[in-house]
Amino acid sequence: MGRLSVNLCGIELSNPVIPASGTFGYGYEFAELYDINCLGTFSFKGTTREPRFGNPTPRIAECTAGMINSVGLQNPGVDAVITEELPKLKKCFNKPVMANVSGFSVEDYAYTCEKLGAEPQVGWLEVNVSCPNVHGGGMSFGTNPEAAAEVTRAVRSVTKKPIIIKLSPNVTDIVSIAKACVDAGADGISLINTLLGMRIDLKTKRPVIANKMGGFSGQAIFPVALRMVYQVASAVNVPVIGMGGVSSAEDVIEMMLAGATAVEVGAKNLIDPFASRDIVASLERTMDRYGIDNLRDIIGGAHNG
Ligand code: SIN
Repeated sequence: MGRLSVNLCGIELSNPVIPASGTFGYGYEFAELYDINCLGTFSFKGTTREPRFGNPTPRIAECTAGMINSVGLQNPGVDAVITEELPKLKKCFNKPVMANVSGFSVEDYAYTCEKLGAEPQVGWLEVNVSCPNVHGGGMSFGTNPEAAAEVTRAVRSVTKKPIIIKLSPNVTDIVSIAKACVDAGADGISLINTLLGMRIDLKTKRPVIANKMGGFSGQAIFPVALRMVYQVASAVNVPVIGMGGVSSAEDVIEMMLAGATAVEVGAKNLIDPFASRDIVASLERTMDRYGIDNLRDIIGGAHNG
């Protein structure tokens, strides 16, 4: 076990850095730039039962220290992911991958999780009940404890692989939703997805994004994410993955002190495709600077005393 290794729901990661879903494709695209096996793992593009074209454009708006997206879960559908995307990934990534799953009904989630859970390369299922960009699915399941628990129960019944539920920050009490998911069988919680936001174009005087609103992410949201990770980590007894504006090794360490076992890097990958690799590379010297021997020992450290 190295200084950076952590155990995420029974699977050893060589380091806690995980590119977040929607910012790293199906991985092989980034493997053209560097050896992606340096990462702990990564969470692949949110996958649904059927292929999706996504939302109308424009789907992206720039903001100070962040961005808004309204992609709308564009993806080729679970069958194409299994027959076309995962075989390409297998050629360049020799670690378990995290499969990110979205749905529009409880049955959708279960169907897609059952199929992806049967794939040998899939280590964890990250179940996204927090996409703010679709109607009748995504975030509507993650803003209500009973609905989030129902999805969790359904996916729990179709796979033995670890289930990680990805939560929305667009709620007043994220702890009650996290607890409901854990009580329903979740092996881990990841948070936060994007914050609902919007921009208006002063020239057209209309919303920049065709769908009017979208999910705000990037460095600006880091303190909100950190606060929610801290709250959830102190309330549940399963691993928590922290994400939201993470863009440096210092941010990874801060998230772990708040209680994260592993840390996802999102928007930063879109600005700099080498960001996740560079964060991994700078972790040890950053630990040395702060007198940290190994990362496992600091998880939840900010809760002590
Ligand atoms: C999207 O595809 O709209 C983004 C996914 C998400 O925010 O969960």
